[in-house]
Amino acid sequence: MQVCAAVAPEVLSNGRIRILPANGTRVLPVGRLDSIEPAPPGLLPNVSVGMADFARFWAAQGIKLREATALMGSHALIDEQGCFRGPKDVCDPTTEDCSDVRMFRWEDHYYKDLCSPTLNVHVSNPTVDPPEPIETPTLGMTEGEIRAEMNRMSCSFTSEAFRNMSHNRLRMEQAGLIAEQKDVHDGIYVEWSNKNCPAGVLFGVNASHCPHFPSWPYTGSDAYLGQACQGVGRSAPHSQMRAAAREFVVDQAAWDAAYRSAYIKMVSIFATFAPSVMAQPFNISGDECVSRYHLEAACAQEGAGPATEDTMALYDGQYNVSSPLADSCASCSQGR
Ligand code: HEM
Repeated sequence: MQVCAAVAPEVLSNGRIRILPANGTRVLPVGRLDSIEPAPPGLLPNVSVGMADFARFWAAQGIKLREATALMGSHALIDEQGCFRGPKDVCDPTTEDCSDVRMFRWEDHYYKDLCSPTLNVHVSNPTVDPPEPIETPTLGMTEGEIRAEMNRMSCSFTSEAFRNMSHNRLRMEQAGLIAEQKDVHDGIYVEWSNKNCPAGVLFGVNASHCPHFPSWPYTGSDAYLGQACQGVGRSAPHSQMRAAAREFVVDQAAWDAAYRSAYIKMVSIFATFAPSVMAQPFNISGDECVSRYHLEAACAQEGAGPATEDTMALYDGQYNVSSPLADSCASCSQGR
């Protein structure tokens, strides 16, 4: 997972951002202890509490707010964006190749969205608020509704096998053969209207970014950050996040650099490494497996199979199949 999260930005940005091998400097050691237990509660801030607790959470981890703002930019990949390519451009997976939709692109659309008015955030209060409208259940959906849902699911996968799997699940849910998985709602409702969208230019967003995506695809925390960018809030955390988000909207290179160092810092802080391997650290370089399957798996490479020449080219000829870890690949990937 650690390699996966580090390599995905490199591949999805087509080599623009480099996390692992930066001019030969190898930065992430192998030997992180993973757990089969789900992460305990409290590792992520409770989003319903707003900016103050969000800021306290990151401060407690030793991560600065500019770094946190850079890390949150990885939410550019959130799959709620479905088939959306950009303003006025929605991909049709029945007739087009949708592997270039926004959720597969490591680009700054996250910051453009954050800084595009108008965002309203509402923390639900069940004792006062009317009940939320219930989403259309898959069970008993009409053919038109199920087709639309299937298209959305298609855009979430580049692999034909996973597309088929998601379609089969939908059909089974529609027929009542399996239960539908319900989203757990965090109690934050974000309203994102296009009414004042062009005012985003004040915060660095191009006018061509309007109209923005029709509904807020990100989390409640992202919405608080967005409000800060759009001028809401006068506290020190608001100002710091506002400055960072507005900087990253206009300067992708600054985001890349901030993301890279914050990511390495985050992994170093949050990860537990096995003492035995840390006695003789071996750093991840992307060249561990002879098969190149780990690159394919980690990189969300466009097509299935081992890393292509293009993916390997991202490593500037440093892709070296004679790594001392080569033998461990049989168990960690799909064989050598
Ligand atoms: C306040 C901190 C954070 C919160 C509350 C949070 C929460 C979430 C939630 C709820 C989702 C699922 C969204 C959805 O599909 O509806 C998500 C997705 C994601 N998060 Fe975070 N996150 C946080 C920080 C981070 C950080 C620091 C990173 C990495 C540097 C990260 C990377 C991702 C990625 C890549 C996804 C997309 C996964 C996918 O859709 O396949 N998140 N996050």
